[in-house]
This record gives sequence, C-alpha cells and structure tokens, in this order.
Amino acid sequence: MNSSLYPNPLLTRLRRNRKNASVRALVSETTLSASDLVYPIFLMEGNNTEEPIHSMPGVSRKTVDLFLQELKEIRDLGIRAIAPFPVVPENKKDSKATASYDPNGLIPQCIRQIKADFPEILIMTDIALDPFNSDGHDGIVSPTGEILNDQTVDVLCQMALCHAKAGADFVCPSDMMDGRVGAIRMALDQEEYTSTSIMAYSAKYASAFYGPFRDALHSAPKAGDKKTYQMDPANRLEALREVESDIAEGADIVMVKPAGPYLDIISEVHSRFPIPVAAYQVSGEYSMIVSAAQNGFIDRSSTILESLMGIKRAGASLIWTYFAKEAAMLLNNKGNQ
Ligand code: PBG
Repeated sequence: MNSSLYPNPLLTRLRRNRKNASVRALVSETTLSASDLVYPIFLMEGNNTEEPIHSMPGVSRKTVDLFLQELKEIRDLGIRAIAPFPVVPENKKDSKATASYDPNGLIPQCIRQIKADFPEILIMTDIALDPFNSDGHDGIVSPTGEILNDQTVDVLCQMALCHAKAGADFVCPSDMMDGRVGAIRMALDQEEYTSTSIMAYSAKYASAFYGPFRDALHSAPKAGDKKTYQMDPANRLEALREVESDIAEGADIVMVKPAGPYLDIISEVHSRFPIPVAAYQVSGEYSMIVSAAQNGFIDRSSTILESLMGIKRAGASLIWTYFAKEAAMLLNNKGNQ
C-alpha cells in the first residue's frame, strides 16, 4: 500500500490533526474574538447626517447622534473599544491646531455623550494634530516647512489632557514626535489623571496605505510628506528602538501600524518586549479587501477573518480594524454553528 517514496511505516501524519472541524478546534493555536477588536469611526459635526467615504466603501462619516444609536448594537456584538476620529471643518483649522484641545470640540463632546450612556465602552482617542492643522501635518510646521518637534509635543499634551478630562480611557499619540509619550504621561499625572492609559503608536510607518483615511478626514498634508516623522518601511531595528523608548516613557500598550505588511515587526515586538502589542489594520488594507471582494476576486468574509487571524497569530493582543463590526458578527455566527 505504501508508496516506496515514503518512509515505511509513515508514523507522522500531520493531517490527522486536521481531519475534521472538532479536531481542528482542539488544536487551534490562535483565537480571535470580538473583545480583541477596536472599532475606529469617523465623526462629523451636525445632526442626523451621514456621508459615505468614497475610498472606503461601506464606511461613512457620521454625526454623533447617529453613532450613538449604533453603539448598543456594537456593544452587544462584544466590541468593547471604539476610536473616534473627527472631521474638522476647514474654517476651524489653523497653523497651531488650536481646535485640537478645545474642550467643546467634537471629540470631547462625543466622549462625554458616549460615557453618559455607555460607561463601559472604552474610548481610545487619537493624539496628533493633522485633522486640526491647516497644514495637514501631525505636527506644527515652521515657516521653512520643518515639523517642529518640541512645540508640537506641548500641544499634544494639552490635547491629551483635554481628552482625559472629558473621560477618554486611552489617549493614543499617533504623531511620531520624539518624547511625546513621556511628556503626555507627566502632563496627565500632574493633573492626577494617573489612570488614563497611553497606547502609543510606536512603530508607525510612512505608509501609502493611509490614503483612504486622509480622504475620510480631508486631512492630507498640504505640502511635503510625513517621512521626517513616520518611519521608513525599510526599517526593523528602528521600530524596536521606538518601542523601547515608548515603554521607558510610560506607554501601557505599543502599536505597530499598518498591520498586514508589517507582521514581522508585530512578531518581533511581541517576542522581545513584555507589553501588549496593538496592530492597526489601516484604511488601505480595508479598502483593498473590500474592492477585491466587490469585484468577485476574493471571498469577503473569509478574507476578513483570515487577515485578522494573521495579525493575531503574529502576536497582536488587540487589533484596530474598520471590519470590527462585521468581523464580530462573523465570529458570533461561527460560535453558534
Ligand atoms: C493621524 C492618523 C492617521 C491614521 C491614524 N491616525 C493618518 C496619518 O498618519 O497620516 C491612519 C489610519 C488609517 O489609514 O486607517 N496621525
């Protein structure tokens, strides 16, 4: 019976552990659940309005009242964390991003409203100046076009404090300025916000995959690119140094972003540092899957779950994904089968 090409007898047959769904479930090495997911959402001013985002089919900018109506469903799906991003009208932007720490701005308002109705939902806010900055950069731009590190960090501290006062659970600096995690930690602690957590976008690459996000927020840089602060996709050791310094400065969770093209970085950070790693499956990763599925080239549901499982397997404890709601529905149905 045995082919002469195989050792006889064949003692190891790895397919035995894959022979049916029950055995596969017993030996499965990675689990993915709704509670691993963070749901990023795009908010805009006004009432009862929603605008589809052209480059992110299925995602819209929404007013806070509409989003609040959706939150119960989101919570009941088992999603525990959301990340609101604001669309800021052009007339509220300036070169110092002063609207970023306005206590009556869209984000502080939405935090207070959400916390009033859903105190258990974790709110993770982005700390960077780009949506508020007339130059479209994450930092303050000098007259000669330089991104000013230390002046930016001062504004980021005010922004983080403003969100903490409104009730944010996590502030998430995504700007890649040097020293911002430590400065934000000190600013929060000085005002006794010692239990506001910091999730640092530590290894954030200068990525073309952010294109649809900038379309969603109308926040693309007016001039130049983000390469003097976001990381070079060629670099691995530098990511480890970024993570190391953010941990030393007090980060509670470190993030790698984007996720899919940077699984090696997620894996290495996870194996080298005793801290939870977050991964951000960014807008371009979302839109690639959605548009390929719309064309019938791939199966949407299984590709979504496989992409997230890959990120989890690489070592992410939590994943920011625009698929959070859909993935939670898919995972819940799977469990019932
Ligand atoms: C803001 C910020 C960006 C993203 C998250 N926070 C854009 C950027 O850095 O240009 C991108 C997220 C996405 O593409 O989904 N600093």
